[in-house]
Amino acid sequence: MKGIVFTEFLEMVEDQFGLETVDAIIEASDLPSEGIYTSVGTYDFNEMVILLQSLSERTNIAIDDLLYAFGHYLFVSLGKAHPDVIKSYTSPIGLLYSIEDHIHVHVKKLYPDAELPTFKILDKTDTSISMVYVSSRGLYRLAHGLIEKCFEHFNTSSKVSFELLKNDGTEVKFDVVQDGE
Ligand code: HEM
Repeated sequence: MKGIVFTEFLEMVEDQFGLETVDAIIEASDLPSEGIYTSVGTYDFNEMVILLQSLSERTNIAIDDLLYAFGHYLFVSLGKAHPDVIKSYTSPIGLLYSIEDHIHVHVKKLYPDAELPTFKILDKTDTSISMVYVSSRGLYRLAHGLIEKCFEHFNTSSKVSFELLKNDGTEVKFDVVQDGE
């Protein structure tokens, strides 16, 4: 998993729970990296799982809810790190439609070792999109948060529903409808 995901995760934890919590979860986690991440580095995905578990235990917030909140945060961070990528879109549905064939393709060129999910588009209209998230990491609630924040970025909002096609969350169908103006 790319370092930017770790550095932004720890930023979110600091913003929302304080530096003390950042230190506490790193200390509790016994990580190979010792919690030292650079945005361009690559680290074991398992470190993220352990950090999420530590934060969940400390805050009594379910891991899925932490991931969802992190999705909102991460969309803004990715947009700041790669403004040109986001700027080439004029609508949230257009952006979502292009994750698989443009955005993440570009990400893979920038970071050849990135571990990215796939999104298969099932259906798309001007105001809705249905797609299937597939990833061995099962971060579908992160995807949920990213999708919602994408609409906010374009000053609109959406209803996002999802259905687990596999119980472990490695295959999840999203139905996304933009709210009417
Ligand atoms: C990773 C979804 C837009 C760059 C991920 C992951 C998800 C995701 C769920 C976690 C990995 C996994 O699940 O296997 C989305 C969605 C987007 C979006 C739903 C739009 C709403 C973007 C944009 C960028 C970007 C705009 C930057 C230009 C990345 C990077 C990673 C990532 C750098 C980390 C890869 C790694 O850890 O190795 N994306 N993404 N994504 N995405 Fe996206």
